[in-house]
Amino acid sequence: MTHDDQRWWHDAVIYEVYVRSFADGDGDGIGDLAGIRSRLPYLVDLGVDALWITPCYPSPMADGGYDVADYRDVDPLFGTLDDARALLADARAAGLKVIVDIVPNHTSSAHAWFQAALAAEPGSPERARYVFRPGRGEDPPNDWESVFGGRAWTRLPDGDWYLHLFDTTQPDLDWSNHEVRAEFESVLRFWLDLGVDGFRVDVAHGMVKQDGLPDAGTAGQHGLLESRPLPYFDQDGVHEVYREWRKVLDTYQPPRIAVAEAWTAAPERTARYVRPDELHQAFNFHYLTAEWDAAALRRVITESLAAMAPVGAPATWVLSNHDVRRHVTRYGGGETGLRRARAAILLMLALPGSVYLYQGEELGLEEILDLPDELRQDPVWERSGHTDPGRDGCRVPLPWTTGGSALGFGPDGSTPWLPQPAHWAGLSAQAQAGDPASVLELYRSALRLRRTFSANDFDWADSGGEVITVRRGGFGCAVNLGKDTARVPAARVVLASGPYTVDGDELLLPTDTAVWWQD
Ligand code: NOJ
Repeated sequence: MTHDDQRWWHDAVIYEVYVRSFADGDGDGIGDLAGIRSRLPYLVDLGVDALWITPCYPSPMADGGYDVADYRDVDPLFGTLDDARALLADARAAGLKVIVDIVPNHTSSAHAWFQAALAAEPGSPERARYVFRPGRGEDPPNDWESVFGGRAWTRLPDGDWYLHLFDTTQPDLDWSNHEVRAEFESVLRFWLDLGVDGFRVDVAHGMVKQDGLPDAGTAGQHGLLESRPLPYFDQDGVHEVYREWRKVLDTYQPPRIAVAEAWTAAPERTARYVRPDELHQAFNFHYLTAEWDAAALRRVITESLAAMAPVGAPATWVLSNHDVRRHVTRYGGGETGLRRARAAILLMLALPGSVYLYQGEELGLEEILDLPDELRQDPVWERSGHTDPGRDGCRVPLPWTTGGSALGFGPDGSTPWLPQPAHWAGLSAQAQAGDPASVLELYRSALRLRRTFSANDFDWADSGGEVITVRRGGFGCAVNLGKDTARVPAARVVLASGPYTVDGDELLLPTDTAVWWQD
């Protein structure tokens, strides 16, 4: 594929770095910018085009940094602004683009604006930057629930309530307030001027709330996957914000991009975020949440491509991120989960558009389900009354080496912020590098080969049933999602996710196995 500078994002493979858990440069047990810098050569060898780095801003870390206290600095836990500049320079020299997270739906309660709002009167301009309302008698202003569990409103001693779709420490901003809009445009420019290649927009579907804040009528339900229309998600007004942001982004060359974290009811709704005058990409959560099932995957691929075509945006594909169970575990765990995950990456990388990888999936890491409760840090654990373990299990620090107290995540002697299971020594990057049977080498080979696909070629070569078959010019991918071994026409196999056999002019493709071939 061509990666010319104007269109690099159209087919880019973008690797999510969850900063706290990627690499710890200073040995305090928490990943940081120095750690990322030290591992750039690994990412180059892996073959990705860009990094998305989760929030590094000063923060009380009530939600892993998605509670931002200052949008123009770096938290000392992660480094300094100079470290950010150095990381951008190193990445550029290594040929990697860098996208940073921007969190516009809410600030931290420690942000100067919220502190000023607390000190001010109900009805004051300071409170007008957030969503403050009087209650209904003793009750909150409406029935909205926090995505993390519990109600979405907290009452102040003076009787006013404020909205927080997430944790109580994450008050929602009011995007009908002009100061809020101006501030974020200025924040975008701050990071663009520093040299970032784009933004990942947190809760991109949440910033604008329905006028009058009507009840949602979804008591007892929360979560990002709700497919019913909700008065606080996917409101038409958000698109106006992105049209303004696009104007800002378009003043930079080469083009800077933004990707929407927008959980929507259907791909057509997602496509609205990437109309030509809005954002560039949106995560494909419909793909992420599809079952390991031929009909389900075929449907979501078809619908995603069909939804993106009229707006001219590239489709995107993703299997895991820092908010969901790792897909090895979702796909059944153990050997089954791993076999499916190996097949899944070959299918995903054969699709046209851009791909998001989540750190550690290239090592075949599974969700850690048995973390000690007292170590859990995700606010979901507390807010759900200990009924939902939360997302710490996909955030366990990466294993880089076969030895050392932190398996190379940090210097020997350091203790990672969440414990790594002992068997991850065998899954470390060091253990897998050079082993042709490893997941890491499968990813490396696939990413290398993918660069030779022609960006514009894509066809189904599929006749329904349990085998999904797609074509990219002279390349093809077949994946068997059925229970039985499938017969597919023999071809020159260039990569396989697992063993297969050749029988005359056919390939015998075992269950949960994918191959790439070349004509
Ligand atoms: C989505 C982020 O990915 C998640 O980690 C965070 O908790 C919420 N947005 C709130 O910012």
